[in-house]
Parts: sequence; structure tokens; C-alpha cells
Amino acid sequence: MITGGSNGIGRACSERFAAEGANVLIADLLVDPGQAAVEAIRSTGATAAFVQLEAASQASNEAMAAAALEHFGTIDIVVTAAGISHGDYKSGDVEAGLKRMQQAAEASAVNPAASLIDLDLDDWRRVLDVNLTGTLLAIQSTAAVMLDQDKPGSIVTIASIAARDPLWGSPSYPVSKAGVWMLTKNAARTLAPLGIRVNAIGPGFIETNMTAALGEVDDYNNLVIGLTPMGRKGKPSEIANVALFLASDEASYVTGELIHPDGGWFTG
Ligand SMILES: NC(=O)c1ccc[n+]([C@@H]2O[C@H](COP(=O)([O-])OP(=O)(O)OC[C@H]3O[C@@H](n4cnc5c(N)ncnc54)[C@H](O)[C@@H]3O)[C@@H](O)[C@H]2O)c1
Repeated sequence: MITGGSNGIGRACSERFAAEGANVLIADLLVDPGQAAVEAIRSTGATAAFVQLEAASQASNEAMAAAALEHFGTIDIVVTAAGISHGDYKSGDVEAGLKRMQQAAEASAVNPAASLIDLDLDDWRRVLDVNLTGTLLAIQSTAAVMLDQDKPGSIVTIASIAARDPLWGSPSYPVSKAGVWMLTKNAARTLAPLGIRVNAIGPGFIETNMTAALGEVDDYNNLVIGLTPMGRKGKPSEIANVALFLASDEASYVTGELIHPDGGWFTG
């Protein structure tokens, strides 16, 4: 079961897990790209289904877990990749992303502390609701099901390098990801005696819709690439590889970890 599976990292995880033989339930706010992802998986002969999810809603997360049971009878692996970079983020709307970056640059030119002092509380709340509370709700709804199974399973959350690096600008995103990191450790400690492993992935900059606007602006793009020792952004499939490892029995003694596939970001 992959939240945020319609695009980017979640979609790459969906495709990789399906290629390894998993039946995949994609759960996402965006229906059209989610159904396209399902069709792409089915065209390989693998099994996939889609359910619409509002990550910040408890009822929607419970419906997602129920849909997984209805389709496949068990929940063995969960990846929580649904996420937003700012309150009104819409995956795939690069124009809106560029406009927002320009507005932030203008505000910062007037007041270098604008991203903190003038932070819109609605933005803060929405980012925390989707990224942090959404991860909590996905863990709650699926762990409850897993605990009733003979073989409970494994949960992989998607944090970020921003869990441990405040990056630049608004605090909403890094705070939400630091929360995902601690939530992952807390859930891992609680669920370990019950047979569920919970680990986090903290990607560096990955080529997805979320970084598409940044990729259009040379100054930002070069800054990010310059700070990444490997000298490039990562590919979604490089995150899916790590998710596959963490979810698999190859990681049977790994829980509560945060692994950074980040091109060497944290070598400094
Ligand atoms: N791209 C990066 O550089 C990067 C780096 C570190 C962490 N991440 C994290 O990886 C995860 C996936 O992001 P991505 O880069 O693949 O971006 P993306 O935009 O390609 O994918 C995010 C997906 O989450 C879905 N989503 C957003 N809000 C939702 C909601 N309220 N309910 C359900 N689904 C929702 C979107 O529709 C989209 O399909 C996010 O949590 C992001 O914060 C990304």
C-alpha cells in the first residue's frame, strides 16, 4: 500500500514493488495520474488498484486500509509517500511552484526573515496536517490491520534530508519532516515487540514534480547540485530501491532507522 503513489517517489515505489511481485494499492489525492500508474502496472501483468486518499483525514485513511483488505486480504507493506512542500502545493503544477518561489524571493528581498515572521499559519497547518498527521493516520489505520495478521509486516515513511537540515525559507516543511522522523522512531519502538518494523527514508533532492519548479531556476538548481557531492539530483527509482530493502526481509533487524539516499548531502 503506497500513499502518494500517483506521482514521483510513490509511483516509483509502486512500480518497483509490483515488479517484485507485490499486489499494489495506490492511494492518492490525484485520481488521473493514480489510475495511469495502475494501468502502467497492470500492463506488465502485475496487480494494482487505486483508492482516492486525503492524507490528512482520519476517515479517508481508514477507508484506504479497508480498501486494501477488500482488494488483497492483507496489508504487508506500507510506504507513506504522500506529501507537500507548501500549503497549496499541487503535484504537477510547475507554474504555481515558480510563482510561489518568485513571491518568496521578493518577500525575502524586503525582509530576509519574512519566511519566518510572516509565515502564513494556514500554510504551516496544512503542511503539518498532510506530512506529519497524514503519516500518523496512515500508520494508525494500517498497523491496526497488520496486528491482526499472522505476519504483521513493515512500514516505510518518507521523511527528507529536511528532517535534519532546516534548508532555507519556510519552517513548515522541515518541521513536518523532523516530526515524521521522530514519529517513525516512536512507532518503531512501540511496534517492534509486536512484529512490525517502521523505518524512514530521508531523500536528498530527487527529480519529481516537487522539485520541478526549482529545476527551472538555474540559481537554485545549481545551488542544490553544488551542495550534493555526487553532483546530481536523485531519481525516484533510487528511493524505491531503498524502500524495497527496508520493507523486505533483508532488513529483518532494521527498525527505527532513517536512511538518507541523498548523493552524499550529509557528508559535511
Ligand atoms: N522530491 C524530493 O526532492 C523529495 C525529497 C525528500 C522528500 N520528499 C518527499 O517524498 C514524498 C513524495 O514526494 P515527490 O517528490 O514524489 O512529489 P510528488 O508531487 O511527485 O508526489 C507527491 C504525491 O503526494 C500526493 N499528495 C499530496 N497531498 C496529498 C494528500 N493530501 N492526500 C493524498 N495524497 C497527497 C500528490 O498527489 C502526489 O501524487 C513527499 O513526502 C516529499 O516530501 C521528496
